[in-house]
Amino acid sequence: MNSNSLVTIADLTKEQILHILKQAQFFEEHPNHRILEGKVVATLFFEPSTRTRLSFETAANRLGARVIGFSDAGTTSSSKGETLKDTIKMVSNYVDLIVMRHYLEGAARYATEVTDTPIINAGDGSNQHPSQTILDLYSIFKTQGTLENLTITMVGDLKYGRTVHSLLMAMRHFNPTFRFVACDELRMPREYIEFCRNNNLSFTEHTDFSADVINSSDIIYMTRVQRERFTDILEYEKVKDLYNLCNSMLDNSRDNLRILHPLPRVNEISYDVDDNPKAYYFTQAKNGLYARQALICNALGIDILKNNSEYGR
Ligand code: CP
Repeated sequence: MNSNSLVTIADLTKEQILHILKQAQFFEEHPNHRILEGKVVATLFFEPSTRTRLSFETAANRLGARVIGFSDAGTTSSSKGETLKDTIKMVSNYVDLIVMRHYLEGAARYATEVTDTPIINAGDGSNQHPSQTILDLYSIFKTQGTLENLTITMVGDLKYGRTVHSLLMAMRHFNPTFRFVACDELRMPREYIEFCRNNNLSFTEHTDFSADVINSSDIIYMTRVQRERFTDILEYEKVKDLYNLCNSMLDNSRDNLRILHPLPRVNEISYDVDDNPKAYYFTQAKNGLYARQALICNALGIDILKNNSEYGR
């Protein structure tokens, strides 16, 4: 196992997270920094993606690396029965870094156990999405000027949404107050509730996306109901449209409120929110490029700030 792999956000200390955010800031100011000439990055996506794959690939390209990989495992030998273990061992022969998304929880962890090539988990089932969390933290920091003492409201599919699971764990370093808004079927799983309790994180659970909740939030983190995780489509139909944020609901919200969403959105944010200055989800996705440039460097053991002292530690 390569110790630079990123499987879960819990792999990173507070200091490491803050240093990666500084690196992201550097890359936002210097996006074309070709320090990875001669390196090859593989993007192995066993599950669909737009933002994560394309931003990782853009990040690698802007750093001067070459990219190989696939966005549809159906075109690879896994469709002939090749195991994940064999696929990872093979690709490890070709590249310096593997970025992988898989539909099974634990797949990224398993991959780290069969190779010494660093692995970045780009989402494993409903478990974790740590690179999303780094861009979320970067977005929160940029919009709030701090990560400390914020009230963060997570809305929608808190059961299957891997982005909220990762973000919740990362925020343990920053004394948040959480509001979890979900129907009973999609509540925050028990293990994450226990995580909050064990880390003395303040939280309340709500089924109602009320004005009180909205108007006392610094961040509202909307999520899509993850249709692909349901075994019974009728269960999905029952809950898919329960929470919708529209512009009029923001009339009395805090000035510093920002609306985040990992995207893609389906129905949970009305299009009339898009022009509200508090809507931040498209810029959030753009921040993913800089965050992933920082994460690629981190996984390859490169500290871009070492030779750029004005950004130093
Ligand atoms: N946020 C996110 O993971 O988006 P994609 O599924 O498009 O990669």
